[in-house]
Amino acid sequence: MLSVLSLILLYMVYYGDVFDRWPVSEISSAEKPRNDKYFVYSCRKGVSCGGWGDRQKGVVAVYLMANATNSKFRIQLVKPCDFTRALRPKSFNWRFNKDEVLNRPSTYQVFRNEYGRILREKFTTANFTRYFSKDVTHLMINSEFSHYIRQNKLYSHNLAWLKDLSMAEIFATIWRDIMVLSPELQKRYKQFVETKVSGKKLVCAQIRVGQNRGNSDFLKDNPRMSAGQSLMVWDLFRKYTDPAKYKLFLTTDDEGVRSDAKRLFPGMLIESDGPLGHVDLGPETDKTCDAFKKVILDQHILSTCDVLITSFSGIGRHAAYVRGKETDLYCLEEGKDLSPCNFSSTLFQPSDW
Ligand SMILES: *[C@@H]1O[C@H](CO)[C@@H](O)[C@H](O)[C@H]1NC(C)=O
Ligand SMILES: *[C@@H]1O[C@H](CO)[C@@H](O)[C@H](O)[C@H]1NC(C)=O
Ligand SMILES: *[C@@H]1O[C@H](CO)[C@@H](O)[C@H](O)[C@H]1NC(C)=O
Repeated sequence: MLSVLSLILLYMVYYGDVFDRWPVSEISSAEKPRNDKYFVYSCRKGVSCGGWGDRQKGVVAVYLMANATNSKFRIQLVKPCDFTRALRPKSFNWRFNKDEVLNRPSTYQVFRNEYGRILREKFTTANFTRYFSKDVTHLMINSEFSHYIRQNKLYSHNLAWLKDLSMAEIFATIWRDIMVLSPELQKRYKQFVETKVSGKKLVCAQIRVGQNRGNSDFLKDNPRMSAGQSLMVWDLFRKYTDPAKYKLFLTTDDEGVRSDAKRLFPGMLIESDGPLGHVDLGPETDKTCDAFKKVILDQHILSTCDVLITSFSGIGRHAAYVRGKETDLYCLEEGKDLSPCNFSSTLFQPSDW
């Protein structure tokens, strides 16, 4: 008689799951049978995906869905141009290759803004692969999901690694693990460090003003802060004007702020090359592609700063997360004094992002 016991054993061998309870089992998650589903972060041409910070949130959200469900993770980010011109896979190949999933049932869904916020509430308890049951799920998301997905008890085993990490550490862990600058940006970064930073301490500010008439790309952005707030940044910069010790680095969406800094700190201020542009609101042209590469390079530079001032922006926030330390970190917010802050401060707390 084929005993019930052997059936159970067969089941266990086939599905693997039960091995986890065997103390001597050395089957690592990499060797476990993975399911053959795909979760793909997709930002397609002509679709509004949000700016670079929004897209990073989407990438991390979809990464966690794949990670929780043992699915494959891919990125297809082609607006305004293929983003692998700026960033490349590091620990595994996440490039989306349509031949890999040819003829497989698939779905493409957009969860922008409040739709993402509804989904993330659901995903504190939902079964992700039941919710997205097709073999291949393409998602455009622009909200912060890690804080929600980590609460989902169905995936406590796969997501055990999140348990002791803060939201900042989750972002930084994933980003450092999967992303590396493309050869072109690595070269530009190296040049920047050698010829511009040249061994000095780097004091940086990321000043996002938002909607502004000086650059048509940003006309449709929301107003984020009055440019006058930058006066407080110049006051802080003035503490670091010894040219033997420091360099000042600025990244901003506002040409006026930029020219003020150039006028006030000649010889001290360094910048990366490339045009200013909004990666989502600008036209899908070569110039916007160059602006996209510059944003990614600038964010990478920000993540290496000795002193970092950041404003209301996913780009600055994520740079601060990857930078890691909370020392010499300052928050610049509308209507508030520029002050030292940390990842518990309002600028770093989830509300509608
Ligand atoms: C989930 O992500 C963590 C951190 O990057 C990684 O160590 C782990 O191997 C991943 N698990 C799966 C099943 O992809
Ligand atoms: C999710 O639902 C699928 C389909 O019903 C099921 O096979 C899977 O085991 C469920 N996953 C979890 C973690 O409960
Ligand atoms: C973090 O910053 C807040 C002010 O934003 C301050 O009240 C708090 O003490 C700081 N926490 C740590 C651990 O430094």
